[in-house]
Amino acid sequence: MTIPVELAVAQGPPATATPDFNRLARVYRWMEWLTFGPFLERCRSAYIPTLTRCRRALILGDGDGRFTARLLRSNPAIEIDAVDASPAMLRQLAGRSPSHRIRTCVADARAFTPSRHDYDLIATHFFLDCLTQNEVSDLASRLRRHAAPGATWLISEFAIPSSFFGRVFAAPLVRLLYLAFRLLTNLQIRSLPDHHSALSQSGWTLRSQRKFLGGLLVSEAWAPNRKLTHSSPPA
Ligand SMILES: C[S@@+](CC[C@H](N)C(=O)[O-])C[C@H]1O[C@@H](n2cnc3c(N)ncnc32)[C@H](O)[C@@H]1O
Repeated sequence: MTIPVELAVAQGPPATATPDFNRLARVYRWMEWLTFGPFLERCRSAYIPTLTRCRRALILGDGDGRFTARLLRSNPAIEIDAVDASPAMLRQLAGRSPSHRIRTCVADARAFTPSRHDYDLIATHFFLDCLTQNEVSDLASRLRRHAAPGATWLISEFAIPSSFFGRVFAAPLVRLLYLAFRLLTNLQIRSLPDHHSALSQSGWTLRSQRKFLGGLLVSEAWAPNRKLTHSSPPA
């Protein structure tokens, strides 16, 4: 099902062009396997066993929908709003999990505000790295207003550890990945945003973190602070 237009409130136009992942949609999972083997999938699904009673999820940039499929299986009552800028990715997602419990919406997440305010789960896997620091801050403030008390925001991301391994291996690898995605999708971003500071300043607290591949990959669970902070006023 596609989310009706009135449920998605458009904001102002984003500053940079939206990357185009359409032509990668069919091969994305195989590209992932060839480069990182099972580790991105392990990172994405690290917290799935702890999430079995979610009712309403918002998933931004889930791409071909492998996380969405697992979430549906482990949460029998969940309803999912899946937002992605790529129609081809969303077709893969819908094909992988043909379910009346999913609503898809083709939209640029930077200009998208959901109408619901009761999501108990938000997920962004390898998506915040497609945004600038300001865009992550803006998104975190907006999502804070749409999260139910006690909600979880799951985040998977690349990270550059401040170690020898980080400097010598992770940093060049991340630069290479950005170059590849620039060529393949016209992604304009060149470096990882600091999502920790963006979320912390926008009313979110890190509850738990797991690391993979020596810290190159992190999987995190964040929770909304009880009170909305100055930078995340009520909607
Ligand atoms: C690197 S892929 C990650 C896909 C998936 N979440 C995963 O874990 O592999 C980024 C996804 O985010 C989507 N995307 C990138 N920028 C976007 C934006 N500004 N708004 C909505 N979707 C976006 C792309 O279409 C793509 O499906």
